[in-house]
Amino acid sequence: MTVQELDKAIRRVPDFPKPGICFYDITSILMNPEAFRYCVDQLAAITKDLNAQVIGAIEARGFLFATPVAQALGLPVLLLRKKGKLPGKTLSKRYALEYGEDEIFVHQEDVTPGSRVVLLDDLIATGGTLKAGGAMLQEAGAMVVGALGVIGLPFLGYEKFLDPVPVRTIITYE
Ligand code: PRP
Repeated sequence: MTVQELDKAIRRVPDFPKPGICFYDITSILMNPEAFRYCVDQLAAITKDLNAQVIGAIEARGFLFATPVAQALGLPVLLLRKKGKLPGKTLSKRYALEYGEDEIFVHQEDVTPGSRVVLLDDLIATGGTLKAGGAMLQEAGAMVVGALGVIGLPFLGYEKFLDPVPVRTIITYE
């Protein structure tokens, strides 16, 4: 598998969720075991390079990629979830959306001060989700050593927004 073949495995849905937006859909990667394996291998290599000790997985589609990477490397998966999903005591961080705001949560007792965490998601658009997730973990004392995505849309400016956390993606679209 090459990155060009991965590109072919990603479904484009024009005008979704609104006119003029092209949606890069990872469900077609999941339907293609070779493409899925390629993504997991690439993300695992990056995670290893960054010497991460924990994988912070972003709900929901980030979970799909984070768990096989974590299992391949023998690392724990820390779930960063939407409101009302985690039963224990949580930390949270609000962040702005184009219209309105959202909030991300993590189990407080699962964040280890000083631990090296990579955040992992399927797609990085504005970087807003990863920025909030990273800030939440850093405020609890963890070190966010990377923000990883399968797909990146760098024209939305996430690299500058997430700086100094390094961003690594497998494929980008302009
Ligand atoms: C999408 C995507 C990322 C986020 C990227 O998630 O899976 O998590 O948006 O956008 P950002 O970089 O601008 O923050 P969505 O909210 O659609 O959730 P889902 O994975 O639960 O479908």
